[in-house]
Amino acid sequence: MGSYNNLYLLSNLATLYIVLYLNILMYQYIINGKQKLSGEITVYGDKNTALKLIPATILSDEPCEVSNVPDITDVKIMIQIMQDLGTKVEKVDESTYIFDNSTINKTKIDASLAKKLRASTVLIGPMLAKFGEVSIPHPGGCIIGKRPIDIHLEAFKKLGAEIKADEEYYHITTSRLKGAKIIPHSISVTGTENIIMAACLAEGETVVEYAACEPSVIQLADFLNSRGAKIEGAGNPRIKITGVDSLKGGDVEVIPDRIEAGTFIILGALCGDINVKNLNPAHLEVFLEMLSQAGVKMERGENNIKVYHSPNLKATSMTTSAYPGFPTDLQAPFTLLMTQAQGISMIHETILEGRLSYTEWLNMMGANIIPCDPHRVLVSGPTPLYGKKIVSPDIRAGIALVMASLIAQGQSHIDNIDLVDRGYANLDERLTSLGASIVRNQIN
Ligand code: EPU
Repeated sequence: MGSYNNLYLLSNLATLYIVLYLNILMYQYIINGKQKLSGEITVYGDKNTALKLIPATILSDEPCEVSNVPDITDVKIMIQIMQDLGTKVEKVDESTYIFDNSTINKTKIDASLAKKLRASTVLIGPMLAKFGEVSIPHPGGCIIGKRPIDIHLEAFKKLGAEIKADEEYYHITTSRLKGAKIIPHSISVTGTENIIMAACLAEGETVVEYAACEPSVIQLADFLNSRGAKIEGAGNPRIKITGVDSLKGGDVEVIPDRIEAGTFIILGALCGDINVKNLNPAHLEVFLEMLSQAGVKMERGENNIKVYHSPNLKATSMTTSAYPGFPTDLQAPFTLLMTQAQGISMIHETILEGRLSYTEWLNMMGANIIPCDPHRVLVSGPTPLYGKKIVSPDIRAGIALVMASLIAQGQSHIDNIDLVDRGYANLDERLTSLGASIVRNQIN
């Protein structure tokens, strides 16, 4: 009990620090567990693709329209950063925006905004390619680990950029980027996307070996190609980019969020029969196979998956890896699922550090999860869970704690849900429409 109180106190101190530092409103969820869920839920546009397509509009002075944009905090911050640089943003409807970047009048990214969004790093590629300079604050660490940007910086140097750093900012400049062969030391999603955006206006040919293959990379390359770029091989580990002098405007519709889709599929397996609509099952092949092996009952359609409450789950070990492997962003929901499975499963997180710390919260709720080392835990199940006062540590752990509260006996209070809002739009409304008892409270 002592360690529970310490964890709660420490997490709330961290929350208080964020509230004071970033001057933002804080909310909590109050959830009454054990409600049976049923119905349909529609998956929104992919956060991590929208966060690249929007900066990719900077590469041209002609307007670009981006639709199916999710209404989440991270996207709003990215739009605010670009507006601060001078981009004119027209909201056409609730999920469609037109970006006119012909009015950009500065190249220094606002530090207070960039600190709220690690993905602001993806502004470097397009800003550098278009304007020959960009100043961006050091990203620093985050709750899910150190998350360095050395791959990005090394790639920009290879492309001919000069990088100077002062206490707060990197100042990156070039007269014109020149194509190069780039082999990062690890597969990096935003690293690959940044290189593609920088190289498409560089002189000559760039080849990226060991590129990330995520659907976000493919859609980014398709969007740029539709505007005149020459990018071949996106979706494979070797991508070739032949630089062009300019890009035109264009339209793009953000692909469905495979992480949101996978999360709702696990939700159905845990607490109801749910038709998860507007997804692309091909983006989730390994995940769906693992769920089938664990005993989750599903019916696969072209753009939807019907998932059925699956009480007879089998322990299934899982290792996260780069796409098309099991996504790290679904590791926490899968670990929760394994707390309800018969037997012992090993969860091995290979992509991001610090992504297993939330398992302490699940243990507080009644799970039996033993840490082996910073990257692996053993989950013994099934164990009943009980409602508690808990704190969301990050987006993906946060959604797992929301789902844990939905299957727990009694009431849970989850603080710091602003982090969950960064990845899942209107979550409380959507869960309520499935029959969940979930209320959002402002706490400051
Ligand atoms: N890495 C380096 N140096 C770098 C960049 C990455 O060592 O310069 C290491 C990282 O420390 C990590 C690994 O490479 O161990 C992979 O990191 P990656 O660069 O692929 O992560 P990212 O691009 O920063 C994106 C998503 C994350 C998602 C990861 C892995 C966006 C905006 N973010 O991050 O999404 O977990 O890929 O798939 O695309 C989330 O949505 O909750 C989230 C964290």
